[in-house]
Amino acid sequence: MSSNTPAGVGVGLRRPHYDELLAAIEDDALLGARAPAWLEIIPENFVDRGGMQRAVLARCRERWPIVTHGVSASIGGPDPFDEDFIRGLKALVHGLDAPYFTEHLCYASVDGRTTFDLLPLPRTGEAVKHVAARARELAERIERPLALENISYYAVMPGSELSEGEFVTAVLEEADCGLMLDVNNVYVNAVNHRQDPSAALRALPLARTRQIHLAGHMRQGPRLLDHHGAPAVPEVWSLYREALELVGPAPTLIEWDTHIPPLATVLEEVQRAREIWDEVFSTQTRDPSAVATCDAAPARAEMSADEPARRRRGRGSRRSRGRRRAKPKAGVS
Ligand SMILES: [Fe+2]
Repeated sequence: MSSNTPAGVGVGLRRPHYDELLAAIEDDALLGARAPAWLEIIPENFVDRGGMQRAVLARCRERWPIVTHGVSASIGGPDPFDEDFIRGLKALVHGLDAPYFTEHLCYASVDGRTTFDLLPLPRTGEAVKHVAARARELAERIERPLALENISYYAVMPGSELSEGEFVTAVLEEADCGLMLDVNNVYVNAVNHRQDPSAALRALPLARTRQIHLAGHMRQGPRLLDHHGAPAVPEVWSLYREALELVGPAPTLIEWDTHIPPLATVLEEVQRAREIWDEVFSTQTRDPSAVATCDAAPARAEMSADEPARRRRGRGSRRSRGRRRAKPKAGVS
């Protein structure tokens, strides 16, 4: 089995790409330098499944580190966790020897009914305590560190007292978990809610970043809709560069969930991310490996809360139920 730690730029393991990825395992030359460095899966598509899905997963794991990115735990919701799914998720994560797992900072079911969307929580102190306790419980039960993703949201829930940055920070600190930093979500939210994308990015607890997502969105009337069905836009690439400068070399994933193109198109995004990565870290004097991005606890130990800003100043001007369903096609993540 290969190393289990994601590093560099990876892609989501999606069914239309199975054949090409499996062929690349047999013949390295097919993808060559374009090959992804690691893979991410949506565990709901694999838990309690056998047959071809699991066979492909096992074969891919021989070649790549693989981590899971869940969509159905409803970590901020009122329902108890789905015991069968939690058991299956734990077995999957451990079977992959994944060093961590990720979920969304949201709720996705109420009274046992799945919404098929990743919905925003009311940003209150009460919600912080609730979701943080559930995040701790989930991490303990899976026996792996958890990172929560900043979701895209289209409305602020009534009663919200905190900004998104304040809420995400409070939850992650209370839960002592990592940040699954979705840069496209930061941009989509900033545009939709008339915020400055850079300020929105910096308001997040970046020192806890364990992994980064990049994806595309679409315009729908006056709003942007996060649909993971297009290449990332230039503004998101710029924000990604800024994020790398702030957090260091966090493993980065190209997310593509709708209108899935040929693998070659996804790998073009991989290559673009690598170019930015190389540009950022080839011009930094510090040792990139010294920046903790893979484990929330070391990240906190090595970076204070204002460390990202301090580092920038120091560098001068350069600055079904999801289990039976695929990832929601649009709206959030
Ligand atoms: Fe994401």
